[in-house]
Amino acid sequence: MSAHGDPAPLQSRRAGPLRGTVEVPGDKSISHRALILGAMAVGETRITGLLEGQDVLDTGRAMAAFGAEVTRHGPGEWTVNGVGVGGFAEPDHVIDCGNSGTGVRLLMGAVATHDMSVTFTGDASLNGRPMGRVTDPLAQFGARAVGRSGGRLPLTLVGAAQPVPVRYATPVPSAQVKSAVLLAGLNTPGQTVVIEREATRDHSERMLAGFGAEITTCDTDEGREITLTGHPELTPQQIAVPRDPSSAAFPVCAALIVEGSDVLVPNIGLNPTRAGLFETLLEMGADLTYENQREEGGEPAADLRARFSPDMRGIRVPPERAASMIDEYPILSVVASFAEGVTDMPGVAELRVKESDRIDAMAHVLRACGVEIEDGPDWWRVTGRGAGGVPGGATVAARLDHRIAMSALILGMASREPVTVDDASPIATSFPIFEALMKDLGASLTQETE
Ligand code: S3P
Repeated sequence: MSAHGDPAPLQSRRAGPLRGTVEVPGDKSISHRALILGAMAVGETRITGLLEGQDVLDTGRAMAAFGAEVTRHGPGEWTVNGVGVGGFAEPDHVIDCGNSGTGVRLLMGAVATHDMSVTFTGDASLNGRPMGRVTDPLAQFGARAVGRSGGRLPLTLVGAAQPVPVRYATPVPSAQVKSAVLLAGLNTPGQTVVIEREATRDHSERMLAGFGAEITTCDTDEGREITLTGHPELTPQQIAVPRDPSSAAFPVCAALIVEGSDVLVPNIGLNPTRAGLFETLLEMGADLTYENQREEGGEPAADLRARFSPDMRGIRVPPERAASMIDEYPILSVVASFAEGVTDMPGVAELRVKESDRIDAMAHVLRACGVEIEDGPDWWRVTGRGAGGVPGGATVAARLDHRIAMSALILGMASREPVTVDDASPIATSFPIFEALMKDLGASLTQETE
């Protein structure tokens, strides 16, 4: 079932080579944060290049429900008139975050230190995901959460009237948990400290500093320690959202496995906490180059050029790299299916609690398409078919997960027989123009009626 209506099956089949330039949308992580911090500053924040995917639109609606003025002026161009730290109003309705774990977890953090109650819900995927990882540290600030069994949504959060600062070591590598704690720390006196054993994406830290918060990061024996001083006056910003490396991953990987392809994906943010996939592909022998390397808004960026790479080999992906490519394992497993030899992916328990259990979801996709895969609680291993090619020829389940749907469709672009996804509508959460862009490059995607 689709999140917002009837299922929309989509079939992908082998066509000619993929060629051309593809402008992928804005970064999802940065887009959420721009709206939230814009709402917590006093005055008008201007955003360009905002991702207009459903996840981000849901966060924008939530910010309006908390009292900020959120206005769209044109494609990707938005303004947020913020209410200041501590200025949120209690919404008079339930906050529906749709499919977005980032949206709901960051919002819970932002409201946890306001004296008000907010009820959150989401779609079937989000309502099945663990929220204790966020409500546990928020309880230390003084907030209370009452949800369904296992701490799942729908959930009501009663914010702390007199929050106390916390020092919190994240038990799982999660930028969402880290960010929820930092956002809660904004309306808390004193210093809030988060320690993470493994570095996760640092967009919150960078953007908080950009908005004028006092925030420092240092490496200690325990890991990365981030200290935020509460009650800052956040000043409105102009934010140009860079393009999303996690979306770029799809056309890049498609080009690597579709014969004769040559695709340019310009202006991709290459923040080291996000770029692990590209490093992995290079180690596998991908013909991938970074052109026009530069700095954009304090972040490294480049144009990515990917060409058909028939000689890729399986590798062991170092577990310490997992956080920097956590959303890219589904599409990596597709590339691994076409490589020669085994690709080992250890240290990835977090994949079990994403929009779907992504190891299980991709295991079903790959097996149905004739690829051998083994898995355990925190690892999986794909045996590539190399020169033998991938048979394909299956209808597979997207499980309300955009990245599973896109990965399966890319598989169908290079397999011998077509691959059909039962419901491609979740793709709109992060990459609404995926189908149009891939068709522009030469892909064959056709809507199926069941
Ligand atoms: C995100 C963090 C990651 C990632 C998600 C976006 C973020 O989740 O999977 O797509 O913007 O902070 P976790 O924090 O659960 O690892």
